[in-house]
Parts: sequence; C-alpha cells; structure tokens
Amino acid sequence: MSNHWSEYWRQGHTTSFGDALSGNYEGVLQSVWLSAFNNLPTDFIAVDVGTGNGSVPLLLRETLINSAKVGTVFGVDLAEVQLADINKSEKSTIEIELLSNTASEKLPFADDSVDLYASQFGFEYSNIEQSITEASRVLKANGQFSIVFHHSNSMILNRNKNILRLIEQPQANELIEYLSEIAIAMGSMVTANDIARIKQDPKCETIRAKINQSIKYLVGYDELSAQDSQLMMFVAQFFKEGIFWPLAKKQQFIEFIKLQMDTLKLRLTELVNASFDENKLAKFIAIFEQNSLVLNELKVLKNEKNEILGWYLDASKVVNAID
Ligand SMILES: C[S@@+](CC[C@H](N)C(=O)[O-])C[C@H]1O[C@@H](n2cnc3c(N)ncnc32)[C@H](O)[C@@H]1O
Repeated sequence: MSNHWSEYWRQGHTTSFGDALSGNYEGVLQSVWLSAFNNLPTDFIAVDVGTGNGSVPLLLRETLINSAKVGTVFGVDLAEVQLADINKSEKSTIEIELLSNTASEKLPFADDSVDLYASQFGFEYSNIEQSITEASRVLKANGQFSIVFHHSNSMILNRNKNILRLIEQPQANELIEYLSEIAIAMGSMVTANDIARIKQDPKCETIRAKINQSIKYLVGYDELSAQDSQLMMFVAQFFKEGIFWPLAKKQQFIEFIKLQMDTLKLRLTELVNASFDENKLAKFIAIFEQNSLVLNELKVLKNEKNEILGWYLDASKVVNAID
C-alpha cells in the first residue's frame, strides 16, 4: 500500500487533497487542532501518524510559533515522506522529524513518552486495533489521543465513491484498450497528410467510433467524475499532443494511463474501506477501555456549507482505567 503513497508524496503535495488544496489545511480541518496544540505542556513530545508530508506537524509548529513551548513533533508514515516545502526555513523552538517506513502499529517510541498522539486522515488506514494499543502504550498518563478520520458519508467519500464507480465501468478499460488499437492501426504519423489518410481508413474509423461511444457513455454516466478521474484529459492529450508521437511513445503513454487508473482505483478502494460509519465507530469506541482510554469528545466536522468533512475524536489515557 505504501508504494502508491510514496509516489504521491514524492510529487511534493502538502496534504492528501492534492491539487484541490494548494497549501496546508484551512478552515475546520485546521481550527479543530487548536485546543489540542495549545493544551500541550511547555516541553512536549507529539506524534502524528499517517503524516504524509507533515501537514499536521506543520500546523502544530505554525500554531505554537510565538508560544514559549519547546518540543518535538514526530510525523510517522508507512510510506517514504518528506516535509512539504512550505515555511521550511522558519525558525522555531519546535522540531519536526518525519519518520518514513514506520507503521503506526509499531511505533519507535518508549512507553509513556508522548503527550499528544494525533492523526488527520491517517490512523483509519492502519490496523486500528493494533494502532490503538500502540497509541496507548506510548502515551503518558493523561496524554491526549486526537484524530480526524474519514466519515463514510462525507463529501470527500461521496465524491470519491462516484469516481471509483466511474473508473470501474468496463467502458473505462475498453476506452484505454481502443487507444492501444488505434495507435497500431494509425501507423506512422508524421504530417497532416497522415491525418487525412487515417480518416479514410475504415479500420481507424471503426475504432474511433468505438472510442467516441465509450466517451459518450462515461460522460453520460457521470460527467463530473469523468473529469475528476482525469481519464478524459489523458484521452484528449493522446489525440492532441500525442497524435504525431512514434508508436513506442504512444504505447508508453497508454501504459502510463493504465497505471494512473489502477493506482487511483487502489487509493479510492482503500479510502472507502478506511472510512467509518456509526457501526464501525461504536466497535472502535468499545475497545477504548481495554486500552486505558476515556472518550472526551466525538463530533462530526462540517464545512461552512454544512457538508460533512469527517469525524473528530478526542480521548485521554487514564492509568488503571480497567482496575
Ligand atoms: C490520506 S493520507 C493522509 C496524510 C496526511 N495526514 C494528510 O492529511 O495530508 C494517509 C497516509 O497514511 C499512511 N498510512 C497508511 N497506513 C499506515 C500505517 N499502518 N502506519 C503509518 N502510516 C500509514 C499512508 O502511507 C498515507 O501517507
């Protein structure tokens, strides 16, 4: 799983929202952290799991920049990650250290050593039973466990479920196969005469009609998701920029499209499986007591349009909770 995330973080994104969010989290997904950060002791250790390129550690440092607090926030991720470029040079008494190839199920921290265990859209991708036991092991007594995680009915999930349904349509795969067929059928394409030639070629025209049919089907099925999936953009690129490419380069590009679609499918399937509905949440909270955690707050986060963004949960470690 971490391979496609490593590839994603290598592209330099700050958050998992990619180009949809140019900098770090804003609005509710930023302000929800204020009290957890401000509650940290003067000299603290914080851990952010599933950190990606360190969006939450960066928020923490930014929030406490003018405070007297001194501390280290470790960002842990199973993938290869590197701190996003923003504010890198900022002087601060707060150190950020990112640990790649590190699982939330097995943290490299001593027992009872962490003041704040945080995660934003990361924890739920892990084995939650193992991760919560591990969270409880590393937290100090009264340490805080605060996570923002995916809600199965959030606007994020709904949009991504639609994209997943779209790219799982057989017509999406067929469309890519037709590109392979037409690349071969077109033969060598060098000048405008070749365009005239392929327009007269019955084989090319038959494949072109099939391509048009697949596009029509997919756009008719869900236009927004067809765009969001980027499949239509790739097809347009093939016929505009790529029309005079040599066959080998066209085939390379088609392989690239296949890889993009496969990775997207994988990422979205993981997202759907990671999200929490009320039932999954109830089962999760039921294991808090055996992990010495008491629930302080649980709420649904919404944006200014009243759309669901995710769950927020805050708990504390108590000592001898089950005695
Ligand atoms: C949706 S991204 C969130 C990244 C970041 N917190 C953000 O909000 O931008 C989920 C991250 O969790 C990481 N992840 C998944 N399973 C993990 C595990 N068991 N331990 C640590 N990290 C994990 C993935 O590699 C990925 O980088």
